[in-house]
Amino acid sequence: MNVLIGGAWPYANGSLHLGHLVALLPGDILARYYRQKGEKVLYVSGSDCNGTPIAIKAKQEGVTTQEIADKYHKEFSECFGAIGFTYDCYSRTDAPQHHSVVQEIFLELLRNGHLYKKEVEQCYCSTCVQFLPDRYVEGTCPNCGKDARGDQCDHCSAILDPLDLVDRTCKLCGNTPAIEKTEHFYFKLSNFKQELEELVGKAKQEGAWRTNAIQLTERYLKEGLPDRAVSRDLPNGVSVPVEGYEDKKIYVWIEAVSGYYSASRLWAEQSECEEQGFWKEDTVSYYVHGKDNIPFHSIIWPSILSGINQPARPSHIVSSEYLTLEQKKLSTSKNWAVWVPDLLERYDPDSIRYFLTANAPESRDADFSWREFIYSHNSELLGAYGNFVNRTLKFIEKSFDSKVPHGKVDESIQTETQKLFERAGALIEGSQFKKALEEIFDFVRSANKYFDEQKPWIQVKEKPDACQDTLATCTYIIANLAQLLHPFLPFSSEKVRAMLQLEALEWNPIEVGDTTLHDVQPLFERIEKEKIQEELDRLYDGVS
Ligand code: MF3
Ligand code: ZN
Repeated sequence: MNVLIGGAWPYANGSLHLGHLVALLPGDILARYYRQKGEKVLYVSGSDCNGTPIAIKAKQEGVTTQEIADKYHKEFSECFGAIGFTYDCYSRTDAPQHHSVVQEIFLELLRNGHLYKKEVEQCYCSTCVQFLPDRYVEGTCPNCGKDARGDQCDHCSAILDPLDLVDRTCKLCGNTPAIEKTEHFYFKLSNFKQELEELVGKAKQEGAWRTNAIQLTERYLKEGLPDRAVSRDLPNGVSVPVEGYEDKKIYVWIEAVSGYYSASRLWAEQSECEEQGFWKEDTVSYYVHGKDNIPFHSIIWPSILSGINQPARPSHIVSSEYLTLEQKKLSTSKNWAVWVPDLLERYDPDSIRYFLTANAPESRDADFSWREFIYSHNSELLGAYGNFVNRTLKFIEKSFDSKVPHGKVDESIQTETQKLFERAGALIEGSQFKKALEEIFDFVRSANKYFDEQKPWIQVKEKPDACQDTLATCTYIIANLAQLLHPFLPFSSEKVRAMLQLEALEWNPIEVGDTTLHDVQPLFERIEKEKIQEELDRLYDGVS
């Protein structure tokens, strides 16, 4: 089976924060899980280096867009590496290869009659001397009356055109922009309405898209699908490959999402493999992002694929709700955020992965608090899992000279383990990561209970055979926990694998053969409670 996994492309205009991580982490869990099962996986993403956000940042800092893009692309690659993301290809949208693939797609859509030219009115700011990108026009939402950006309203999720806004202002300088005529290419989304209805209908039946993606997509389809402008007057990006229009750039709607395809081609070139196996009608695909990206993946991307006669469609959409920070909305401009480079400097990547999965905003918003983060590390990771591994292995080290005893593994625990692989696997495939992790941790707790009840420290003196059975059973549990937890907590699973000298981690129960423990070390370190206040001070002191 081929599994394509596409993580959303973060804008390379500032560091990654917790909001990015929590939305993107499911992609790596899926990639590791399917590889562990032996499936062919292609996990792609990249940095979004085009468009206004990068241009603005460059202007602010007085450097070129290239310098900004290079800086953050490098930082993103390092952060994703440090948190353990296993992208097969992590590309960038300013790569010449991406540009040429996007232009090919644009021309194919044009040839197939899905794009047309239209003269439109657009906001032009005479103070800033430029046409304003949609999201840099601000005003009042005509739909709900709240503050909105020109591309969409965050309150009611309406997709907007800047000209729809009431009381328009330029986000850059605050003045009222003028309206001027310009010519643009439009994407005839109405061509795909019926097909999209069938697609979302099927996804709903199979439960393969998150509910928020189904609901929002159904709503857009019901409201009618207005044709969308797909070119823009922007300084940086992929030029429209049509004579006389080269100064215009292909808009993010078409350009960034096509990155999934361009990155798959780049991967194919670099690894001398075929990408087409990942773009078949029956290819399983997962698109992983935050909810503000839903229409990119549930409407635009399937329409593009259909428009260029590619048979693949997004089979799974994993769109997270939002993560708040200490019960307040994240804000990068106010610096109400936890930045990933800082976080990784001070904490174990598995602690971060554990918390962000156990408290993931899968079906409703969730909160990150320093108190909860540190408590969950100390009580769950270290207190339950780390402790079970440590007490078992230390015991074997001390009482059995590090040789795992040849006892009989408890049969009911074996049966339970087998069932857990099946249940957790089904939950992961259905994008219910939180539930899967919970079930595995229930098993961790029952393992600790088993250890307490068996009392191997007494058995070793009174019933040595029973003691061997207990420790064989506990070692069996540890090996299988390392396997079950590997998609979620790859770093600690690797430590367990090395301590037990297992050859590889797979997705079905394994037995531990003749083994001598290697360099037994605790999996996690306790985080002192004082850290909570330290982190809160840092957060509040940083607010601007
Ligand atoms: N960089 C854009 C954003 O963050 C687009 C990401 S979605 C993708 O909103 F489809 F392009 F990946
Ligand atoms: Zn609104």
